[in-house]
Amino acid sequence: MRERKITIIGAGLAGLSAAVKLAEQNIDCRLVSAQISERAQSVLAEGGINAALDVMGEQDTANEHYADTMAGGVYLADPGAVKELTGHAPEVVRRLAELGVPFAMNGDHMIQRNFGGQKKKRTAFCKSSTGKALMTAMIDEVRKYEREPDGQGELAVRNDPDAAGRIRRYPHHVLTDLLIEDGHCRGAVVRDTYTDQTMALEGPVILAFGGPHGLLPGQTTGTTANDGNGLAIAFSHGVEAANLEFLQYHPTTVQISGKRLLISEAARGEGGRLFVKRSGERWYFMEDKYPELGNLMPRDVVSREMAAVLGDPSCKDQVYLDMTGLARETWKKKLPDLREEVRHYLRIDPAEEPVPVNPGIHYFMGGLFVDSRHRTSITGLYAAGECACQYHGANRLGGNSLLGALYGGQAAAQTAVEEMTGQDRQREEKRTVEPPSAWNNGNDVSLKQRENDTATPQITERVMQILMRALGIVRDAGMIEQGLRELESVCSDRTCTETDRKRMLVAEAMLRSALERKESRGAHQRSDFPERNDEMYQKTTVAQWDGMQIRISFREIGKSYEKA
Ligand code: FUM
Repeated sequence: MRERKITIIGAGLAGLSAAVKLAEQNIDCRLVSAQISERAQSVLAEGGINAALDVMGEQDTANEHYADTMAGGVYLADPGAVKELTGHAPEVVRRLAELGVPFAMNGDHMIQRNFGGQKKKRTAFCKSSTGKALMTAMIDEVRKYEREPDGQGELAVRNDPDAAGRIRRYPHHVLTDLLIEDGHCRGAVVRDTYTDQTMALEGPVILAFGGPHGLLPGQTTGTTANDGNGLAIAFSHGVEAANLEFLQYHPTTVQISGKRLLISEAARGEGGRLFVKRSGERWYFMEDKYPELGNLMPRDVVSREMAAVLGDPSCKDQVYLDMTGLARETWKKKLPDLREEVRHYLRIDPAEEPVPVNPGIHYFMGGLFVDSRHRTSITGLYAAGECACQYHGANRLGGNSLLGALYGGQAAAQTAVEEMTGQDRQREEKRTVEPPSAWNNGNDVSLKQRENDTATPQITERVMQILMRALGIVRDAGMIEQGLRELESVCSDRTCTETDRKRMLVAEAMLRSALERKESRGAHQRSDFPERNDEMYQKTTVAQWDGMQIRISFREIGKSYEKA
């Protein structure tokens, strides 16, 4: 049997990108995911992907992309990592075009649109279903290196017969543990959700399981299938997490049953305008307050301004997104899917009527602490995509997440290969793990396993309520401390599973990070500390579980995990 050397957890854009990078270097890998790639969160991404392609006659450069990303993240992102990201962005997007992604074109030329926090048109797009188009291309690319589990149906890749089978998928498998010993990751334990078989997959691990949207069911534009359990497992092993207080509220979302519908920033990129009714008149408050970027200020600023106008007694209690001025051609060529979605879910034609919108959770800027080479605090363990923290600082610019996932996946894979040990290179395929002996007492082992690696919906709901109350667009110490007290009382609920408890550690780390950052910056706004304080807090917030308590510290930005 072929040896599988590296395990990737997550088959969205970051996971697929890592898998292709490994396969291209003749490294066999396992691609593990709870859902098939076609249902990954990356498929939901709408507005586009940023790269300074300079195709719009605006003299755009990678340096400006870098500067906008750093400013948008209020100087908390890792500058070395952002330099790499923005420098490689044109190459990443051109490669996607070569793979056949149907980017918007004008004749032979790709076109790009405006997006938040950037003065230049830098966002390449496929109508407003960019994620779907990118995922289709990457799934196809990965397929070239896959084989069927029975060894049939192998595909030869570019006349290289060995390439077939380099990527082996483990769909419908959930991560249940990481094998970490003496600060080194030796593999991952996964459970097949169809058969309940549990396996230890040995070797280095790349985590690409997305942000913990499942901690906030009903409140996020993300998929709750990204349940947060992976982050909880890593964190409970003492893997460092960072910047967990920075939750992105996307300004234009709408509550629909069970989740928040995203109305892409592309709507404002193409000319959509936010207004509120004040004394009977429409007030286009963003244009009034920010004449240069107006509705396209970074998301943290727009969401904050929306919260402020909604708190203003002279304003009516609803913000609207006015897209009625968009040209017919724009609707037809650039936003047909957005129009369809709004019509379908809200029964409003946005070309005819303004749409009521509210800020909603969209992205976690924080995650596992990784350095610019995507190494976590544990050797042999890497992270990329939304579960990692280094590109976006205190606020992510729209269009940088698809880029971060694609480039991050590649970078993590590259580092994993460079750091592979001799033992990693002679890895056995897999071995079945015996369940812990405590379970061998005649009880149904699979049921126990499932119970332990599953979150309880009622507990999740209570934790979500606590987080939403404590970590709103504007917070203060009182709200956060109240959240910590409430969380403690949920922890004492005897119905909690092991997974609930691990997830609550992450929730607690979010609250403690927010409490300790006594300033306002990006998506973390404290009414009790309204000013930005560079001297104290232009630093990464690091959270770590030491087995007894969560420790929060502030670390110089850009730390590298150079290995001995
Ligand atoms: O609004 C949007 O289309 C979101 C894009 C992003 O978060 O990158």
